Amino acid sequence: MYEKEELIRFVQEAKKYGHQGKVASYIPALGKANPNDLSIAIYMPDGRIIDAGDVTVKVTLQSISKIIALALVIMDHGEKEVFKKVGMEPTGDPFHSIAKLEETQPTKPLNPMINAGALAVTHMISGRTVKERLQRLISFVRKLAGNPTISYSQEVAQSEFETAFLNRSLCYFLRQHNIINEDVEDLMELYTKQCAIEMTCIDLARIGLVFAMDGRDPFTEEEIMPLDVARICKTFMVTCGMYNASGEFAIKIGIPAKSGVSGGILASVPKRCGIGIFGPALDDKGNSLTGIKLLEFLSKTYSLSIF
Ligand code: DON
Repeated sequence: MYEKEELIRFVQEAKKYGHQGKVASYIPALGKANPNDLSIAIYMPDGRIIDAGDVTVKVTLQSISKIIALALVIMDHGEKEVFKKVGMEPTGDPFHSIAKLEETQPTKPLNPMINAGALAVTHMISGRTVKERLQRLISFVRKLAGNPTISYSQEVAQSEFETAFLNRSLCYFLRQHNIINEDVEDLMELYTKQCAIEMTCIDLARIGLVFAMDGRDPFTEEEIMPLDVARICKTFMVTCGMYNASGEFAIKIGIPAKSGVSGGILASVPKRCGIGIFGPALDDKGNSLTGIKLLEFLSKTYSLSIF
């Protein structure tokens, strides 16, 4: 299973759909990506990696970071505290939507994958300073990826920080309703650096593998996160990981996955493998168009759907 030649063929086939997509440009630095890029890595529990495309290209996590920050804050505060501030329900709205915030009483972002919920989660990362909180998050990411060199892109973080007016307005709304109580600029600094953490799709695949193996490092057997935390994260990947395309994705592909507007996708096939994809041509929901095509080919060929 998972032949390299076949994977290369799938990449070529998926690339044909790239012209239907667009690179994200609302974060100016992401607009520099090449819409024709497409790379994938599949990481197996026995240590085998099968890849195709240029896997040396680095991708910023963007919304993929939301799943990792969520795991960290549940470990910091426990499930009960975290879900006092953020809900568990899909929205059916785009990731940056402000619409449903006013409708839920008492005010609470509906889930940790939409931006409002993710900002509430990032707010909960423990530490005395922004620097210390970022360092804790990056250390956690490094452990998950088994790669101590992972860091964030200053350029992408800066570019988002300078232009994230909608996210700032979400923060002010959350502050007014006591979901957050820190300085909005501090939270925006931490959030934009979190989203700008960058890695190759091999690193992404390895993180997907840790989730697939219920939070354990498959090579050292170390528990990086408790089983329950991995389970909660994978469940959110299924219900909200692709935003308002999560239903169609579950039917057509059926793999827990999280996308980012950089064109990254982290997917986790329980007990079988982790998958990392970078394909910056996005569909109108902000998900990698070519990446989704690629996952569709894989899921069908190897019967990867969990359903
Ligand atoms: O907050 C933002 O808008 C970005 N840093 C992340 C959004 C994102 O990746 C949505 N994903 N598809």
